[in-house]
Amino acid sequence: MRKPFIAGNWKMNLTHMEAIQFIQDLGYEFKNKNNIDVCICPPFTSLRSVKTIIDADKLSFKIGAQNMHWEESGAFTGEISPLMLSALGMDYVIIGHSERREYFSETNEIVNKKVRLAFKHNLKPIMCVGESLEIRESGKAEDFVLDQVSKCLQDVEAKNIFDLTIAYEPIWAIGTGKNATSADANDMCLAIRKKVSDLYNASAADIVRIQYGGSVKPSNITELMSMPDIDGALVGGASIKVEDFEAIINY
Ligand code: PGA
Repeated sequence: MRKPFIAGNWKMNLTHMEAIQFIQDLGYEFKNKNNIDVCICPPFTSLRSVKTIIDADKLSFKIGAQNMHWEESGAFTGEISPLMLSALGMDYVIIGHSERREYFSETNEIVNKKVRLAFKHNLKPIMCVGESLEIRESGKAEDFVLDQVSKCLQDVEAKNIFDLTIAYEPIWAIGTGKNATSADANDMCLAIRKKVSDLYNASAADIVRIQYGGSVKPSNITELMSMPDIDGALVGGASIKVEDFEAIINY
């Protein structure tokens, strides 16, 4: 059985002081649940502070970064290495978010390098894929997304798939308030699972966790989570409001 996995992607929001307040407020409500994995992904500047509170208060939250560089070190001004994230005790790292692909020119090739390097440093990647509205309307969404999955997983070893999360996030649903119907989201998650089976094997497909992302909120989480191939959610806007995120993780 796949354990439900909800991750909050704060994007470029909250200072480290606001982050500390947030995690304390959320932790107060959530402390003792272990039937679900919940991961908080704050900006780099808050990772240390949030991790300190999680450890000190013995909270069951996981923590992840929103991005990392594809090299371990070197002359890459402004970038963050997987070694640095690993040394900070990060559990997860979001890779290939559509905002990274769109505004920072990340290609499938770059995403693939990052995914492989994340595994090398014991960071569990949340690898994002998803189609634009134009592609969805052309009827080619599934081909497009499955092509992303195979390119981003090139040369990733089968043993690592067990620690992989794939987030299916249709771009037209991100931050727009328009979510995919749970049936459409489930169809794509199922297609992704079958692709993982083709690329690896049936047990990898059975174990890999697939999240849906795109305008997930308290009012649609229960239905999304009732779908057989949706194992969780990658939540943006609703993850920076304590009441909303709390309602989502307690769906
Ligand atoms: P949203 O963002 O929940 O605000 O639509 C999701 C995401 O980008 O991960």
